[in-house]
Amino acid sequence: MDFEKQMRPSDFEIRLLRADDSIEELTRLLNRAYKVLAEMGFRYVATWQGPDITRERVQKGECWLAIGDEGAIVGTIGLYPPAPDDLAAHYRQPGVFSFGQFAIEPALQRTGLGSRMLDHVEKRARELGAQELALDTSEGAHHLIRYYEKRGYEFVEWVQWKETNYRSVIMSKRLG
Ligand SMILES: CC(C)(COP(=O)(O)OP(=O)(O)OC[C@H]1O[C@@H](n2cnc3c(N)ncnc32)[C@H](O)[C@@H]1OP(=O)(O)O)[C@@H](O)C(=O)NCCC(=O)NCCS
Repeated sequence: MDFEKQMRPSDFEIRLLRADDSIEELTRLLNRAYKVLAEMGFRYVATWQGPDITRERVQKGECWLAIGDEGAIVGTIGLYPPAPDDLAAHYRQPGVFSFGQFAIEPALQRTGLGSRMLDHVEKRARELGAQELALDTSEGAHHLIRYYEKRGYEFVEWVQWKETNYRSVIMSKRLG
């Protein structure tokens, strides 16, 4: 992992999850990366989810991975099409795609890899015909809200999911 710390975001391969990738390894990465949010008191599903929930979530859309040294999964982001049954009204709109399960290996966080993955998913959403890309996060996760605002995402609505101990904000960005 020390070696990976010196790698630049462009050194990592970004590719789709394959049938031979380990859902358990992906789940462990999610749990490790989101731990910092659990420590802040935010019970995101990815702080505690097991492989069954990861599997369910990756089947909702495309699951992108960043692959590091020796094939390790060091980052992930999920891209989802509009969801007509979602509790969030915005996610039900045609043309609105969303992303989630966004995680970078803790030792590699804040090195630009997450931004590269998000660039990739914004481009991919455009290719799939999305007019907007949206996300949800805790209304109290100010550092994340600031990060998304810097990238052009704006507040749309609040949603209270039963699985979380916080109210979520939905943010969205028009894709040019
Ligand atoms: C959020 C996450 C995916 C971003 O990926 P990343 O590779 O760390 O992000 P980048 O290096 O590309 O961008 C860094 C920017 O993210 C924001 N950021 C990320 N983590 C932060 C933190 N703990 N505190 C403050 N800002 C943070 C900052 O705006 C930062 O910019 P800066 O370093 O110029 O100040 C990653 O930090 C992560 O896995 N975090 C834990 C899980 C999580 O929060 N997932 C998103 C839930 S909605």
